[in-house]
Amino acid sequence: MGRLFPTLLGLGLGLCLLTPRAMAAYQVNLDSPDDLGNAAAKAAANLVSFYSPNAAGEYSQTLVHWHESGIAWGSLLENHMNIGDGSQDHVAAGALVNASFGSVGDFLNGAQGRLTQEAWLGKWNDDIGHWALSAASGAEVFGAAAPMPGTGSSHTYTSLALTTYNEMWEQWDDKCGGGIYWSRDRSDASATDSTYKSTISNTLHMALGARLAVLDPANRDAYVAKGKQVYNWLTSSYLMTNTFRLYDGMHTGACLNITGTEYSYNQGMLIHALAYFYNATQEAYWLTQANAVLDSALALFVESGTNILRDSCEPTNQCNQGNLNGGSGFKGTLARAVAYLYPFTDKKRQTTIRTVLTASMQAALANACDSELFCNEVWTGAGAVPDKSPRSQITFMQLMNAFTRIQAASHAAGSTIDNAYTGVGDDGLNGGVFFGSHALGLPSAARLSPILAAGSALLAITLGCF
Ligand SMILES: *[C@@H]1O[C@H](CO)[C@@H](O)[C@H](O)[C@H]1NC(C)=O
Ligand SMILES: *[C@@H]1O[C@H](CO)[C@@H](O)[C@H](O)[C@H]1NC(C)=O
Ligand SMILES: *[C@@H]1O[C@H](CO)[C@@H](O)[C@H](O)[C@H]1NC(C)=O
Repeated sequence: MGRLFPTLLGLGLGLCLLTPRAMAAYQVNLDSPDDLGNAAAKAAANLVSFYSPNAAGEYSQTLVHWHESGIAWGSLLENHMNIGDGSQDHVAAGALVNASFGSVGDFLNGAQGRLTQEAWLGKWNDDIGHWALSAASGAEVFGAAAPMPGTGSSHTYTSLALTTYNEMWEQWDDKCGGGIYWSRDRSDASATDSTYKSTISNTLHMALGARLAVLDPANRDAYVAKGKQVYNWLTSSYLMTNTFRLYDGMHTGACLNITGTEYSYNQGMLIHALAYFYNATQEAYWLTQANAVLDSALALFVESGTNILRDSCEPTNQCNQGNLNGGSGFKGTLARAVAYLYPFTDKKRQTTIRTVLTASMQAALANACDSELFCNEVWTGAGAVPDKSPRSQITFMQLMNAFTRIQAASHAAGSTIDNAYTGVGDDGLNGGVFFGSHALGLPSAARLSPILAAGSALLAITLGCF
């Protein structure tokens, strides 16, 4: 950390002399709770500005994959947790209610609507998993027993998460030793997709179980046992290597027919799961695993020299955002996960996480955001230019959330970061750590952790030239 700021600063000043740049970037002092809170609120409002309210609760699917809409609503709820600003709750909660068919209370429209949803509308196991994690975030913000608005008392955020968890589990079978399928439609034998067991379906199920283990402690042991079963299968199936790298999935027509591509969201979602299982159990096992996956993921998805998060498609400019088969947005899942792990991990890894999130935020603000804080999801390299699109903003929002979350954690803890994490649990709203001028009950003048080298961040951003 100590070495990062001088490097960035030096680089920034150097480039500045060569190419003086208009002060177009959005100005934010990352050390200031008020500034950062305002920026987070602005980024969230920008995300909502792309949304036209509709009965399905989704962004236009010509712009955004269905599952990404689910991620967007969760990111707004997490922003509420981080900065105490609930001004977008009505959108996030209303969209979750609409997408789960109000009184039906699942994303597949109950038993009757299933086939249409699964086969024709393409709601696969990973898709509903992403949405269900946002329901879990709703439970963390509003309470584990809180009903979803307008649904009476029968449907809670927790029950929506749990129903989806069980629906995903229906799609586990013994073929190739276990695993949850990617698609929900087994009927089309010719489609290779229908036999594919994707890593993300499995890590999402683990993450959902881990969140439920915290929200529903009475059933914790069952969630934990199932999480271990899935995790063991990732190893026994060879989808996870002995260096904690994750391949994308396998075609079950031949069990070792593994698709070897590595995406940051696979490891990100696993870190998310392992961090929450550690929170739920306090068993060292989960933390050891989470740390190992963290080390492996950061070695793969952080640009060396700059410490900026980047997906592997970025250096070769093959992310293909235009036709929706992106890839540069995957690291939003990773950014979010490292912030979940942050309060539990050791000081050295905390410093690493802080370095990576800080460098990524600084790079995004300097390269990829316009003066109104509409930001690209690519933060380094040739692709890092301002972009105004909901997909980009969803990814940036996850980085913003990760950054405000670790700032809030250090802020609450003063110099002892380890016990600072209060962002989860059924009293999330009242017990949470809020940040900045949106905070309820925190003095806005409260000081942040000295770990973030004071002043450096501000100077680099204000110069707007690295
Ligand atoms: C939910 O659907 C209703 C009915 O179509 C609509 O009036 C409302 O605006 C929608 N809410 C959101 C947040 O999209
Ligand atoms: C192996 O995977 C490829 C795609 O990577 C797929 O086209 C093929 O059908 C699979 N083979 C079997 C036997 O499942
Ligand atoms: C972990 O989860 C509990 C709820 O079970 C919550 O109260 C606590 O703040 C979380 N964080 C830590 C550091 O344990």
